[in-house]
Amino acid sequence: MAAGLPRHVACVMDGNGRWAEQRGRERTEGHRVGEGSVVDVIETSYACGVKWLTLYAFSTENWTRPDEEVAFLMGLVQRALRKHAASLHLRGIRCRFLGGEDGRIPPSLARDIADIVELTSGNTRMTLTVAFDHGGRDAIVHAARALVREGVPEDAVTEEALAARFQYPDTPDIDLVIRTSGEQRVSNFMLWQVAYAEWMFPPTLWPDFRAEEYRACLEEYRRRKRRYGGLDRIDEMEMI
Ligand code: IPE
Ligand code: IPE
Ligand code: MG
Repeated sequence: MAAGLPRHVACVMDGNGRWAEQRGRERTEGHRVGEGSVVDVIETSYACGVKWLTLYAFSTENWTRPDEEVAFLMGLVQRALRKHAASLHLRGIRCRFLGGEDGRIPPSLARDIADIVELTSGNTRMTLTVAFDHGGRDAIVHAARALVREGVPEDAVTEEALAARFQYPDTPDIDLVIRTSGEQRVSNFMLWQVAYAEWMFPPTLWPDFRAEEYRACLEEYRRRKRRYGGLDRIDEMEMI
């Protein structure tokens, strides 16, 4: 059966550096302009009725980038939070930050993050999760540690038991992942939750990825057939 509107969309926002380099500008300029695409994707998700949107903003591996770039990204996120917190809240958007479990985020940014998460925690219109200092493997390790800490017996270690120990266990599995810039890899993104996600790899660099192209991805998703390892009923009948 063809899919409808995805319940949970995720974007791997890639290509900022190349966008800037193509223009002979500093890589950080690409990150700055990419904020416009973030706003477009949030607005469009909200308008279309997507209930869960996750944006991959910084990976556990991105700490290995030059200090200036890391510092710029931390500052950019902090400024964006301060700028957009009130309007996100006003529109009933619940904001969450996934990651940061190893205490590496600078304290003043960590406080701003905690503030917006707290401020918007009761909102129900849409959940915006920013994967920030996130690594899919790191998240699984933290969940596994929780199982051990709690002394969960071996035969009680199930998929459900592990999933229940993630940072936000109520997050539904991801239906659609859009990775911009043409790179076709996972880069350690929510490994557990993408098990049956549909993937799209538009060649557009993130700062150029705006509302119209995002809407086209949502349309393309409607045409996809998901099977989850089983047999689609229609395909089954066609085979007879
Ligand atoms: C994505 O853009 C943003 C982050 C990873 C923080 P990149 O900075 O990876 O841009 P490219 O891939 O080098 O073009
Ligand atoms: C993935 O992009 C992380 C984010 C978009 C935040 P990277 O640019 O870091 O991934 P690789 O290094 O190309 O795999
Ligand atoms: Mg990249």
